[in-house]
Amino acid sequence: MKKNSKYCLGIETTAHTFGVGIVDFEGNVYSRINDIFTPESGGLHPMLVKEQHLANFHKTILKALKEANLSIHNINLVAFSQSPGLGPVLRIGALVSRLLSQKLNIPIVGVNHCIAHIEIGRLKCQIEDPLTLYVSGGNTIVSAFESGRYQIFGETLDLAIGNMIDSFARDVGIAHPGGPKIEKLAKESKHYLSLPYSVKGMDLSFSGLYTAARRLIESKEFNSKYNLSDVAFSLQETAFAMLTEVTERALAHTQKKEVLLTGGVAANERLQEMIEYISMEHDAHFEVVPLRYAGDNGAMIAWTGVLKYLHNGEDEIKHTIIQPKQRMDNIEIPWRE
Ligand code: ATP
Ligand code: FE2
Repeated sequence: MKKNSKYCLGIETTAHTFGVGIVDFEGNVYSRINDIFTPESGGLHPMLVKEQHLANFHKTILKALKEANLSIHNINLVAFSQSPGLGPVLRIGALVSRLLSQKLNIPIVGVNHCIAHIEIGRLKCQIEDPLTLYVSGGNTIVSAFESGRYQIFGETLDLAIGNMIDSFARDVGIAHPGGPKIEKLAKESKHYLSLPYSVKGMDLSFSGLYTAARRLIESKEFNSKYNLSDVAFSLQETAFAMLTEVTERALAHTQKKEVLLTGGVAANERLQEMIEYISMEHDAHFEVVPLRYAGDNGAMIAWTGVLKYLHNGEDEIKHTIIQPKQRMDNIEIPWRE
């Protein structure tokens, strides 16, 4: 423990991950512990996720404190993911955070999860003002800071990219999360099969692509004319080309000089390669969030909590109600002014 340092404990509970992170007010990260719900089959059932988070939150917090070599009494601020996410699951983080805040008599702040993905990227990649492509299981957003907010320039109109890939993987018998395994399969092929490409202005749609990829694996020609690697390759190439196109368009529009790739799908090397290429074309500096911080984690919540607290002070308890559907472009960002 450093003398005079102040620490924020952040709790992430928007979906599968109960994440606890501890950072100091200067942005040094001391711990990042995740307890992740993995479904035996199918998607995420909020009630099952909630039960796991309820069963494990205490030991996850203790592990994070141990990793940081701190006691709970060294914590000066608690932050939690207030939006957006699965209601029953968000509620666990809000409840635990309120409890800590009241028991320890320390301030509490609620944080938007999507903004936290951007802020941890700005911190860890040491960049100021990026155009961000945020791609995960639940979100597909192209965003940049303008007029006091993280404006959304493009987003998916239906499925999120990670969810689309995970659903396809599940259809072919690959357990959740399918993204990393589909990436591995895709690397084994260079045989592109034509699939629908759907970009509308700066928005995207993945449902037609998903249905067409499913049809390919249900077809009689599957495993004779082409194999699963070919479909995985074609699915990735098409989806990532769509993401690249909207990112490039937003880059040309905003004229930002930095590009940030964040969210769980940022781990994908092919996507990194494509976004890096268009960044170079536009003379923009490209960064990927370090993979430890790309997916959901409590450190990003803690750090965004610090930024918010230092500019706005604490949230009153009545303002710590969860907001499962809140959009990030509805939130003012005073710390960027
Ligand atoms: P959010 O709440 O922000 O939508 P999330 O709950 O989906 O996030 P993340 O940890 O940010 O959680 O992202 C998980 C997603 O990332 C899953 O869909 C997973 O398949 C995907 N993913 C992880 N690694 C890869 C990879 N190498 N290639 C493609 N997708 C990946
Ligand atoms: Fe996330």
